[in-house]
Amino acid sequence: MSAETPQIEELLQTALAMRAKAYAPYSHYQVGAALLTAEGKIYPGCNIENASYGATNCAERTAFFKAVSEGERHFASIAIAGGPEGQAPEDYAYPCGICRQVMQEFCEKDFLIYVVRSPLDYRRHTLEELLPHGFGGEAMLNRTDF
Ligand code: THU
Repeated sequence: MSAETPQIEELLQTALAMRAKAYAPYSHYQVGAALLTAEGKIYPGCNIENASYGATNCAERTAFFKAVSEGERHFASIAIAGGPEGQAPEDYAYPCGICRQVMQEFCEKDFLIYVVRSPLDYRRHTLEELLPHGFGGEAMLNRTDF
């Protein structure tokens, strides 16, 4: 079992608060995320929808892309909170498959994923639990024939 995240309260509260920043005029489903780097910095994110639905970006990827574009490469955990607009989350909002794959690109197997309903009601998983046998770049990077 990994140690509890030191800034857990701030991480959970940031994910919950970031729901208010969601741009979700189509689904009216607001998602907030808070990504914690290995050095303790938090990058917040929200979902950003588009009239061309496939151009939508999830909250988790918004947080990752903000962090990676600032040069961050080492991550400890992420908190995610989602639910219908104007309501507290009723369910735990698990990351979609594309977001799990982005986590796989930048995180170790023991990266922690908190799905949050309230500051006192959350579940904790590792990336390995949510994306077993994930595809990573090692297979390609070890090749010498291209
Ligand atoms: N969404 C996220 O932000 N994260 C996920 O992991 C799943 C889905 C967003 C995308 C879209 O704006 C809305 O939730 C409904 O799918």
